[in-house]
Amino acid sequence: MDLKFDFNNMLCSNVGEHGVSQQDINEILPCAHAASDHLKKIIANPAARIKLNLEWAKLPEQGKEQIAEIKYLGRQIAGKYENVLFLGIGGSYLGLKAAQDALCAPYYNEFKSLRKKSPRIYLEGNNLDPDTLNVLLKNLDPKKTFVVVISKSGETTETKAAFILVEAWLKKTLGVKYGRQVLAITDPENGALRKKVTEAQKKDLLSFRSLPLLKGVGGRFSEFNMGLLHLAIIGVNIEELLLGAKDMFKRCSHDDILRNPAYMYALLHVILYRKKSKSLAILMPFSQTLKSSADWYVQLLAESLGKKYHRLIETGADGIESWIANKEEYFSRGRTPISAAGTNDLHSIQQNNVEGENNKVITFIRVQKFNTDLMIPEKSDFLSGKSFSQLMQLAQEATEWALVSQERPNCTIIMPEVNAYNWGALLFFFEMATAFEGELLNVNAFDQPGVEGYKNYMYYKLGKPGIPQDVAEEIKKKPLIKDPKYIL
Ligand code: PA5
Repeated sequence: MDLKFDFNNMLCSNVGEHGVSQQDINEILPCAHAASDHLKKIIANPAARIKLNLEWAKLPEQGKEQIAEIKYLGRQIAGKYENVLFLGIGGSYLGLKAAQDALCAPYYNEFKSLRKKSPRIYLEGNNLDPDTLNVLLKNLDPKKTFVVVISKSGETTETKAAFILVEAWLKKTLGVKYGRQVLAITDPENGALRKKVTEAQKKDLLSFRSLPLLKGVGGRFSEFNMGLLHLAIIGVNIEELLLGAKDMFKRCSHDDILRNPAYMYALLHVILYRKKSKSLAILMPFSQTLKSSADWYVQLLAESLGKKYHRLIETGADGIESWIANKEEYFSRGRTPISAAGTNDLHSIQQNNVEGENNKVITFIRVQKFNTDLMIPEKSDFLSGKSFSQLMQLAQEATEWALVSQERPNCTIIMPEVNAYNWGALLFFFEMATAFEGELLNVNAFDQPGVEGYKNYMYYKLGKPGIPQDVAEEIKKKPLIKDPKYIL
């Protein structure tokens, strides 16, 4: 059975005036058809895909040789090292973390029997907290540790700072050939990290091996590109994962929008956002191993659709579009994503979901079959003879019921089991839904200009060369005001 999207509880038939009516759907359909045609046109055009950052849509179809090369590299690394340290932030961290938790056994690093022949995996370079990296540098053996640094730009402060320290740490023990234990995943041509790879390889061909973070693939849409080496190292079936994504792509290319799961997901959320003010999007898998996938989705939704301006489309002489922020037209909107997990968060955010402001839509992920199960022995009490997976599913059903009884819209993604195929399908479902929602809202879902604010401020304070004059002026003109009388 395939992944299914159950939207009964988003409809007014189940949640009254807080739900979507047939008329709401009829009203948005012409706009949805135009959005679907537009997206299809761009995805069909290789130059447009690359220019507008939609190349991710073709990743499920990537060539066999490419995958074979990545698998070979992965096997080499896994066979030789006890630890692999990945450095990256944003999509280059969240994608890996989501895959690690969903597709490896829980407590993978702790038990050799679970890792089989794969190395321990550490994910760093995703923050500036000295305490976490320090522990690794003090306790890992550089001789037994392979390092994979992932950054499209090669400039991101968190990853760059961590890599500077990790390089010095490797070099201290391994000497000048330390680069043989480093692999970089970065832009195929540009950026500081690509430059470093080129220079290192001039000196020693075996050092700083690299893989491309493809043009037209943004960080949060890159799990099926930059994430593949990690998957190869931990022994995930990459072909199955990409097949799951490819099959989902087919389902999400359906011209009949009412039968297209990702488009319906986006469309119903847009109606609930615009007409019923449901501005919070809570993703709550009923599976501990999918919690990090919900974290991955937070980035996808927030960076893609939380935008200040609408998009202005200009078509060039070659027929290829440019998307420009329309500074005449403020949007400053976007649903706020929140990640949670059942059943743990039924004892936390759920109180607010049921009785707090009715301003949210909750998406559940219901796993039909867990990889293992536990039985509660007979003669305990009313739990006698029940399995954990039965209880989990009942808890999810009960949560739906509790929300519906208070007219709180929600929906459920039904996942037959957590495996490479279904996980690939799940990620692709969300990517397609996000791209389609961008079309419906008329925003550019593939940039993240808001992330630049903090970066610019840091670069200005750190004296990084090349800060644009207007950016420096704005920071000087509007400094942070910290009046001591307001600090208690
Ligand atoms: O989605 C994105 O493109 C971003 O969130 C990036 O993943 C993040 O900023 C890291 O960028 P980089 O890969 O250039 O280090």
